[in-house]
Amino acid sequence: MSNKMWGGRFASGPDAIMEEINASIDFDRHLYRQDITASKAHAEMLAKQGIIAADDAKSIAHGLDTILSEIEQGKFSFQRALEDIHMNVESRLTDIVGPAAGRLHTARSRNDQVATDFRLWVRDTIDTIDAALAGYQKALATKAAEHAETVMPGFTHLQTAQPVTFGHHLLAYVEMTARDRGRFADARKRLNESPLGSGALAGTSFDLDREMTAKALGFDRPTANSLDAVSDRDFVMETLAAASIAAVHLSRFAEEIVIWTSPIVGLVKLTDKFTTGSSIMPQKRNPDAAELVRAKAGRIIGALNGILIVMKGLPLAYAKDMQEDKEGAMDALSALSLAIAAMTGMVADMVPDEAKMKKAAGEGYATATDLADWLVRTLNIPFRQAHHITGRIVALASEKGVPLHRLTLADMQGVEPKITDDVFNVLSVTNSVKSRVSYGGTAPKNVRAQAKRWLKILAK
Ligand code: ARG
Repeated sequence: MSNKMWGGRFASGPDAIMEEINASIDFDRHLYRQDITASKAHAEMLAKQGIIAADDAKSIAHGLDTILSEIEQGKFSFQRALEDIHMNVESRLTDIVGPAAGRLHTARSRNDQVATDFRLWVRDTIDTIDAALAGYQKALATKAAEHAETVMPGFTHLQTAQPVTFGHHLLAYVEMTARDRGRFADARKRLNESPLGSGALAGTSFDLDREMTAKALGFDRPTANSLDAVSDRDFVMETLAAASIAAVHLSRFAEEIVIWTSPIVGLVKLTDKFTTGSSIMPQKRNPDAAELVRAKAGRIIGALNGILIVMKGLPLAYAKDMQEDKEGAMDALSALSLAIAAMTGMVADMVPDEAKMKKAAGEGYATATDLADWLVRTLNIPFRQAHHITGRIVALASEKGVPLHRLTLADMQGVEPKITDDVFNVLSVTNSVKSRVSYGGTAPKNVRAQAKRWLKILAK
């Protein structure tokens, strides 16, 4: 049987493989709500412009509402032979309202239709992701406020560097997440133009009111060039770029959780809620959720690469290649949502081992910089020279196998005679973090203030 929608030119139906490669209904069915909303807006506008009769518009709207509830109640039978969501909906509309259904597609093509539907879907998804990211930030800032004074080792090169507070570390991720939300908001702002009314590629001869449909669908304005409107997928690329960067941030934290929960490190514990066991090794507590968050980043970045590569060779305007924009994006954005939810859960769940953190913070001569700073401040020694003196003191401590604060004053004076007892005040990790009061620094009072600032912003 030839196709109901375009059968006029065709004598027979497609090969089974043609049908299989062509069908997108298995994934674009997720656009059903946006498709129906956009069709209702289009029909209403056609009637207002006198392009179709008001009665036809009314029965189209009624039929579309019926289809919406059929789909939501799981009573709709999606057919692969009908290729995609647009034709599945239109075909069912014909069953319900008869010939009036045939007027819905006046002055419209699936090319502007799918561009409109997918923009709406991406916009809705951005809103869901933004709310989830705000929840993640809230979990981080809440935990940070509780741990403004909890000292932990700060690392560079994953080598103990200087003591920081656990709260400060958590707030670093709040800042990253704020930038992620900014990127999504930016993508959302740029995507918010309505392609509806661009037709297949050239516009239409009917007197449409594109402002009306744009407004009805919550778009800021109609797109200004019909060729661009139907062949643009920047909104997918931008959203996946924002998603990829967000996923990279989640993955970095997930990697830290994997390291911190390793028994040889043991800075943090996850409860039974976010660990799994081993089928053979009874002692195991594996951070599978963190590992999977780390891995989801791969899929999300893969989807970004996928769409960039699909688009890069396409001449204007629409080509069927563009149907491949949805599967990867839908998969990636749902992977991102799951990763955000898992990280939010793990942040609330994690319990730092405060004693171990504090001990680890002092290992590896982590307050050596504090000692050098003391030499600068108290003895007015130039920093480079203070660095050298401190290096010799560290070497001495290493030789004796003791931490810096276990050296005697005499030991220190052997290296620099002017050193006094006062130096021991800066060698504790607690005093070290307390002293880091520069704006953005790790001092508990800064961390408390920043956590409070964020919680206030997030409460809005
Ligand atoms: N399913 C198609 C897609 O997602 C809809 C547009 C089809 N347009 C066409 N000219 N074949 O891209």
